[in-house]
Formats: sequence, structure tokens, C-alpha cells
Amino acid sequence: MSTDKKAFYLTTPIYYVNDAPHIGHAYTTVAGDVLTRWHRQKGESVWFLTGTDEHGQKVMRTADASGVAPQDWVDRLVADAWKPNWEALNIANDDFIRTTEVRHTERVQKFLQSLKDSGHIYSGKYEGPYCVGCEEFKLPGDLIDSNGEKLCPIHSKPIELVNEENWFFRLSDFAQPLLDHYKKNPEACQPESARNEVVSFLEGGVSDLSISRSTFDWGIPVPWDKKQVVYVWFDALLNYATAVGLTDDPDSEGGKKFAATWPADVHLVGKDILRFHAVIWPAMLMAAGIDIPKKVFAHGWLLVAGEKMSKSKLTGIAPSDITTHFGVDAFRYYFLRAIPFGSDGSFSWEDMSARYTSELANDFGNLASRLAAMIEKYCDGILPAVSSDEVLKSALAATVEKADFAMCALDFQGGINAIMEYCKRVNGYVTEKEPWILAKDPANKKELEEVLYNTAESLRALAVLLHPVMPATCEILWESLGAQEKLGVIANQKISDVATWGQLPAGARVKKTPVLFPRLETNA
Ligand code: MSP
Repeated sequence: MSTDKKAFYLTTPIYYVNDAPHIGHAYTTVAGDVLTRWHRQKGESVWFLTGTDEHGQKVMRTADASGVAPQDWVDRLVADAWKPNWEALNIANDDFIRTTEVRHTERVQKFLQSLKDSGHIYSGKYEGPYCVGCEEFKLPGDLIDSNGEKLCPIHSKPIELVNEENWFFRLSDFAQPLLDHYKKNPEACQPESARNEVVSFLEGGVSDLSISRSTFDWGIPVPWDKKQVVYVWFDALLNYATAVGLTDDPDSEGGKKFAATWPADVHLVGKDILRFHAVIWPAMLMAAGIDIPKKVFAHGWLLVAGEKMSKSKLTGIAPSDITTHFGVDAFRYYFLRAIPFGSDGSFSWEDMSARYTSELANDFGNLASRLAAMIEKYCDGILPAVSSDEVLKSALAATVEKADFAMCALDFQGGINAIMEYCKRVNGYVTEKEPWILAKDPANKKELEEVLYNTAESLRALAVLLHPVMPATCEILWESLGAQEKLGVIANQKISDVATWGQLPAGARVKKTPVLFPRLETNA
């Protein structure tokens, strides 16, 4: 792999460390994991970052309420909740950034000092509403009125009034450059609905942003005014760049890493935090003369009872509630398959059970177990001679092209559908050829073997294409097809080679798989 080529760099939001990981967080991170695994299988060098957002008033208050020092509190949450959660979901991130790490805090201070030195920061007075849940300064028009009390529309909780001497960032200077940027580069903010929202927000005019707080101390000290800490969002947004060496000397290790990764290719975010990523963050970078990210993609919300699922509304569902029933790979598959990326969607046990049974257990799992059973029964477990079927072959080529296009455009549903359509087609092929009937007459031996080889070869392709989505299951299938010995590990199989027919070697030992998607237990 070439090292001087820039990596495909993808980030997730850094999650509030205080929250218990729920399926909303997992939705974003799994999407990032699938996309980066796909790009790795395209042979690209990839860098995938996730992490935790650990400063701010909310964290300080909960640590205080629990009688624990904030640093101990966040250390515990990362070790006990966040890291195990991502491991359990088989997330292959390359790095995990925590905003309390020295590598982050030092670089934030250096960056901030450089903005101050170049005149982008001034001192002023902030007076206005603040939501601690969002850690966000609100505009009066953002709030909802409940019997005369002003509530945050996201948390439905009362806002607090802040009245402080703060440091301000001249955000307003960048409204026009950002508008020009999004008009010239529509791919920089997606989907289209998100871009329209950002453009109309910018057109409405943008005020300067208070970027420090003086009434509590759980944050990064402002380097020239130690009585203030950096506003938690200003600190948090910088994680994407501090994690790869922002502000380091170009000849140092950090500087080289920065050159090899920056600008980020995709910031994946939920639509709740779009403005931070598509307005404030690129403005901060523009002020510093640093390239801005190539794309911010805002996906929709997982809803419960029609509202954004969240811990504060007690509607958070833990990933393990679902994985214990359906398994990790079905969890990774389901949300990306069922909800167009960019739209809101609801989780329902019924829909997930239905898709699990029809798409994963019947269409995919059964195909794999039937093939292995037939090769064992009719060919003593040995893969017969290489053969080819023109219809399957050309359908596969079209599938790879379609799936690759969709995945790279973050249309996960379109990509997975294309692959599962091919799976259906292979099932149709087996049903039509009826190998169990062919097996009754030795005169059909050659035809029987062709059908079995073509089916095995199709499963080889399915295993590779579905590997980014369901890595553990596809590794089991790979093993069962006897593919590893000749073709190597599945993670190294290239998307661009998938459609090359005839890769499974004749004579490979095909083993029965454990059932890939076991029948669901019913609690009735
Ligand atoms: N800490 C900030 C982000 C800072 S990034 C520089 C934050 N954290 S969060 O824990 O609230 O996580 C927000 C992200 O989690 C959302 O942007 C989204 O990616 C994901 N989701 C949280 N709840 C979600 C749903 N109900 N549905 C879909 N995604 C959700 O904001």
C-alpha cells in the first residue's frame, strides 16, 4: 500500500461520554465502519476515527453529583462503556480520540492562540439562552414556549440564561465564503436537504460565536486567559484535526500524519449537529488557512414513538438489547438496509424479525448451508471443476458496479439492495437447475457439478461484497468455501476483483457452516 497517497479519512462525531451508548450512536459508527471497510477493500489506505467528547458543564455536573472527580468519571465511562461497546459491534476504528488527552488539549490551545494572533478572536459580553443538554447557545427563536417557560426543542428542558464576559470568534466573516463554497461544491454537504438547510441558515445571516466560558472549569484553559475554558463545541470539533497532528511541525510524525490524512473525506454526523459541522467547523479552519473537509454527510434520526431516540427522554435502546436476540451482524445490516441514509426511520422488532428471517436466514444463510450440504453429499465435500454461467457472471459484474457506486455515495441501502438482489438471483438459479434432481442420474454428473461450482463461486462473491457489512458471518462463509488457502484472507479481497469469475479453486475442501443466521427464538 502506498504511503505517500492521502488516506481516505472518515470520522464519526465524538459522543458525549456521559450518555450510555445507544443504537442512535451505533447507527452512525456502524455506517462509518461499513464505509471504511468498503474503501479498504477497494485497496485504498484508510483512516477511521471515533472517540468521546469529555468536557463541558453536563459532564462536570454529573461527576459532581456522583462524588467523583471529572477525570476519573470520564476515564471510567470510556473504559467500561464506550470502548467495549464498539468492540462488541466489531468496529475497526484506527484511532479513538478523547478530548481530555494531552495530544488534543495542547493542539487545541495552539490552534486557538494562532486564531487570536491573526485577529479572529475578540473579547465581548454574552447574554442569552444556553441549553446544557445540547451544550449550545440558543437563539430566542429556537426555543419552544411551555406555559411561559422557555424550553430547548431537542431536550424539552428549561434553558439557562448565560451572562458572561467571553471570547468571541468572528464567525460572521465566513458566512459569505461558506455560501460560495457550498454553491460551488454541492457534494461538500449532503444529502441535498442538509445542504439546503445550511445554505438558508447562512443566507439568514450569522452572528459571531462565544467560544469560552468563565463560570466553570471543566474544559481546556484559554491559553492567554486562564480564568476561562474553551467552549466545549469549539474544543470538540477540533478533535478531527488534533487526532491526526494539527499544528505539529510538518517534519514531525504528527505533521506527516496530518499531510497524509487531512482534509477529512467524510464527516459523518446526525442531522442534529449539522450546523456545527457545516458552518462553525469549516469557518474555524478557513480562519486558520487550513483546507476544509471534503464532505459533511448528515444522516437522519432513529425515532421512537415519532421522536428522536435519546437518553434524556429515556427512549435510548442499548445495542446489546438487539444483538443478544439477532446477533451483531444482523444489527449492523438492519439499520443500513432498512432506512435510506439521510432519512429518519423507526426501529421495530417486527420489521427487524421479518427482514432477518426472509433476507438473512432464508435468502443468504440457507443458500450457504444448502450449497455446503450438496457439495458434501454429491461431491464428497470437494469443490468440482471450475465452470461458468454467462447469466450469473454478467449479473455479478453489474451488481459490483452498482453496489460500488452506491456505497461510495453513502447510499448504503442501495448498495446492500444490489447485493441482496444478486443473492436472490442465485437462489433462483439453484431452484431452476434443481441439482437434487440432477443428482438422481449419474449421466447428469457434469451438469450437477457445474451448478454447484457456479453457486459456490456466487457465494464467494457475496461473502466479499457483504464482508464490510457483516464481517464475522462472511468470514465463517469464506472458511466454509475453502477459499482462504488459495485466495488469502477475506479482508484482502478487492472489490474490483469480485466479478472476476472462477477464483475458487477446483479441489477446495468445502465444509458445512455453522448456521449463519439461526432461527429466532420466540418468546411467546
Ligand atoms: N458530542 C457531540 C458531538 C461532537 S462532534 C465534534 C454530540 N454527541 S452525542 O453523543 O449527542 O452524539 C451525537 C450523534 O450520535 C448524532 O450526531 C448522531 O450521529 C448519533 N445519534 C444520537 N442519537 C441518534 C438518534 N436517535 N438517531 C440517529 N443518530 C443519533 O452531539
